[in-house]
Amino acid sequence: MAKVTVVGSGNVGATTALYIAEKRIADVVLVDIMDGLAHGRALDSIQAAPLRHYDTQIVGAEDFSLMKDSDVVVVTAGKARTPGMSRDDLLQINAKIISAVSAEIARYAPNAVLVMVSNPLDVMAYVALKVTGFALKRVVGMAGVLDSTRFRYFLARELNVYVGDTTALVLGGHGDSMVPLPRYATVNGVPITELLSKDTIEQLVERTRKGGAEIVSYLKTGSAYWAPAAAVTEMVECIVRDKMRILPCSAYLRGQYGIEGLFVGVPVKLGKNGVEEIIELTLSKEESEALIASASAVKGIIEKLEEMRLI
Ligand code: 2OP
Repeated sequence: MAKVTVVGSGNVGATTALYIAEKRIADVVLVDIMDGLAHGRALDSIQAAPLRHYDTQIVGAEDFSLMKDSDVVVVTAGKARTPGMSRDDLLQINAKIISAVSAEIARYAPNAVLVMVSNPLDVMAYVALKVTGFALKRVVGMAGVLDSTRFRYFLARELNVYVGDTTALVLGGHGDSMVPLPRYATVNGVPITELLSKDTIEQLVERTRKGGAEIVSYLKTGSAYWAPAAAVTEMVECIVRDKMRILPCSAYLRGQYGIEGLFVGVPVKLGKNGVEEIIELTLSKEESEALIASASAVKGIIEKLEEMRLI
């Protein structure tokens, strides 16, 4: 059985651990520095095993050494947004947490594929890459799968079609400048541009961009976790089972799409080594400009980190 460590046992981390175990993808170690939290959440989820029919393990720990020899490490540690906060507001506090966690990962799980989830996502992936010194393909961020599943859900509701038949692709940074690509969204291969008006598509695109904030505004004390955890689980399954699916993920770009030295959401082939290949689509001028603008937003935040000497 593969071994996956989930760092951070808040709502996203604990739900991800549960989903991974329920799908029998791997045994899970849930790590949190807060005394007892990971233990409690691990015990609670594993006690559902007889009823939910899984025999995979979930173990809670405060000690990072338990992540030893993990195949995949998922990092959800850090603060989540509360109303009025952008993902970037989390920058300073989460950069410190992610640096510390990354050093532990490099020490105990040097051969793992690292899936970053903490926000601001694309920047935290950059911090993790720099601190771990991992090969570029072994660090990948979860954002596009979540943003695309939100877009798919909105499309299915609008069109009154089976949600499983929808496909969508959202590229760019995981922020307000993300780039949903209606041209690549379909219902079982039928382009949505054939099914919906331009105005309706624009409304759904806008709702997708603000999908995370919409939930924060309702929850008030935290941010989304069911759909984010499902998106992480999809990626982890793909890596553990070497499925080589093409999924939108935050990957380190070296000139692809005209972007250099940054993590930005693009379609990648995801397999046992992480980012096996970066897929370069031919984008329209408008799409390409939106992607470059989104990358500039990510770059601006990295520059802030450098000014604060947090990297
Ligand atoms: C979201 O989009 C928390 O960034 C996460 O809901």
